Amino acid sequence: MIIGVVKETKEYENRVALSPEVVKLVRKKGFDVVVEAGAGEKSYFSDQDYEASGATIGSTKSALEADLILKVNLATLQEIAQMKEGAAYISYMYAYQHPEVIAAFNAKRISTFSMDAVPRISRAQKMDALSSQANLAGYKAVILGANYLGKIFPLLMTASGTITPARVLIFGAGVAGLQAIATAKRLGAVVECTDVRPETKEQVESLGGRFLTVEGAEGVKTEGGYAREVSAEYLEKQQQLIREKIKEADLVITTALVMGKKSPILVTEDMVKTMKTGSVIVDMAVESGGNCVLSEINTTVVKHGVTLVGESNLPSLLPVNASQLYATNISTLAFHLASAEGLALDLEEEITKGVLITHEGVVVHPFTKQLLSQ
Ligand code: NAI
Repeated sequence: MIIGVVKETKEYENRVALSPEVVKLVRKKGFDVVVEAGAGEKSYFSDQDYEASGATIGSTKSALEADLILKVNLATLQEIAQMKEGAAYISYMYAYQHPEVIAAFNAKRISTFSMDAVPRISRAQKMDALSSQANLAGYKAVILGANYLGKIFPLLMTASGTITPARVLIFGAGVAGLQAIATAKRLGAVVECTDVRPETKEQVESLGGRFLTVEGAEGVKTEGGYAREVSAEYLEKQQQLIREKIKEADLVITTALVMGKKSPILVTEDMVKTMKTGSVIVDMAVESGGNCVLSEINTTVVKHGVTLVGESNLPSLLPVNASQLYATNISTLAFHLASAEGLALDLEEEITKGVLITHEGVVVHPFTKQLLSQ
């Protein structure tokens, strides 16, 4: 089986699907690997590094003609046009948002597997790219926010005076939020965090953060470690709490996400107006609509004296580590689905069932099917 890796074409993308280290592992398992020339450049992996690991360097076309194509972002229609009939394909897909791309895959009977659909179960942890990338993103969000802030994070007692620690407020204690708490704490800030899932309180506190409890968490439905739905009543109560807390914050990091839905609005324009001049909001949910009404995707703007950072691809700002971890995630999934002889799918197995989007010309993924039909 030949694996193809192409250069990512999406704007703001510096990552690549396989790192040279992981290519070595893939070769050991008996697969051949074709890497498009320059595919690893933005992650600081050279063609020579890939060749030394056993890959063949080729054109875009030769990589796309492979039996299994590995990517970070969803393929374009032009890329799909160059793929083989009946090939296999893995990347982040967010399939329910891209019906035309899904139709193109089906027209070519390409079996597609989505990295954003890996179930959050222990057996699949090594394949969980959403977590590996959100972890890095949580770190980078704090570093970026700290950079925009005209203040230091830690308490500083000097002969010239005492500087009080910065106050960081984090919404969402998922993977990104927990790493943001840990990073902000390491830099010496006072950190507070709120999440709709009450079970996150213990995790926040174990990292040294203070958990802000919103009463009435029964208005939240969770499933498989994700918030599925948050009631209007709960959001109203949460807004009251945020209104009080946001006035004191120097840096706000929002990571609140409800799978498959537009992000909830947690920070309104009125709230931003009450914030301290010079404070910063890093809206990590900006790609799915944003948790703050004023944030703008892929730009940093100042509104009402507050700097709003809307970086949609934070992992890509740490391309070396992000590609290393992503390569481990995607190759582990590839080994789960295929051997050097070809695809070997057990359609009833939980991970395979979870990630398989299209197969034999139709959408088979239930959640995707449901959202595409809405
Ligand atoms: P996650 O699912 O692990 O965490 C999201 C958390 O938000 C959950 O704990 C959930 O309970 C909580 N949440 C949902 N609604 C909430 C509400 N109304 N109030 C408070 N908490 C709420 O997700 P993960 O992996 O930590 O990612 C978080 C966000 O960061 C997502 O929106 C994701 O798309 C984004 N992200 C952005 C990146 C970027 O470069 N900007 C990179 C990686 C992730």
